[in-house]
Amino acid sequence: MAIGVKALPISFVAHFLAIAGAIMVLVWNISFRGGLAWESTNKSVIFNLHPVLMLIGFIVIGGEAIMSYKCLPLKKPEKKLIHLVLHAIALVLGIFGIYMAFKFHNESNIANLYSLHSWLGIGVIVLYGIQWIYGFLVFFYPGGTSAIRSESLPWHVLFGIFVYVLAVGTAALGYLEKLTFIQNAGVAKYGAEAFLVNFTAIVTILFGTFVILTALCQSPPEDEYSYSAI
Ligand code: HEM
Ligand code: HEM
Repeated sequence: MAIGVKALPISFVAHFLAIAGAIMVLVWNISFRGGLAWESTNKSVIFNLHPVLMLIGFIVIGGEAIMSYKCLPLKKPEKKLIHLVLHAIALVLGIFGIYMAFKFHNESNIANLYSLHSWLGIGVIVLYGIQWIYGFLVFFYPGGTSAIRSESLPWHVLFGIFVYVLAVGTAALGYLEKLTFIQNAGVAKYGAEAFLVNFTAIVTILFGTFVILTALCQSPPEDEYSYSAI
């Protein structure tokens, strides 16, 4: 399925939003929240790696992996390799980002997994891992028969889009949760930081929207038969 718009210009909007979102989440955590650290006596700077890795590592790189299929002027095997490697990087950085939230909780004696955000977050990362392993086995190595590959592809695309939308929704809940915590601790409701966090969430959602749009738009002409060359 493709809508009658070319994917490439839509993907440029997504790349621009990715850069804007990455800058915003870094400015928030470095300038407003005290910086990023693996080890520190100030435990909240350990937490700060969580939103940074989840947005830049997981959502942005995962989105670029999805768009790479529709936008790169390369042959199918090269695009397949780029798609699977970018998704692997996103998965590893996502796991690492979740680990930072657990590390912060454990070192600060805060309970784990008590929120809707955290439950959906575990669901997202597990489904993403399953999607990666299935994609790898069926489309790359050892590779399914051509019947299995063509039967699987529409499910792979549908499930991939579903997991990605769920990831973006989970990130939006994460921004809301963190902003609520810091507002309860005294951050101004209409202050600069509150606007920055809410706009970072909006940019994240817009980025996700343009990633999905790109995946539903038309590939460049040389790639028109990609579904038949899986
Ligand atoms: C798709 C992206 C994300 C996933 C998969 C995810 C996943 C998780 C998980 C599994 C936890 C639980 C850690 C624990 O119980 O020790 C957590 C905690 C947390 N995350 Fe995220 N996160 C994402 C993005 C974000 C973003 C962008 C923010 C924005 C600040 C955020 C804020 C929080 C907060 C405040 C906590 C601690 C409170 C809680 O456990 O709910 N998350 N996240
Ligand atoms: C969690 C990881 C993954 C996610 C979320 C994901 C998601 C997607 C999405 C949304 C599409 C449609 C993209 C578009 O049309 O622009 C797609 C296409 C595809 N993916 Fe994945 N994918 C993942 C991992 C993999 C892996 C490991 C492979 C193994 C090679 C793979 C192989 C493919 C193939 C062959 C296509 C078809 C492209 C075409 O012919 O149009 N995917 N994937």
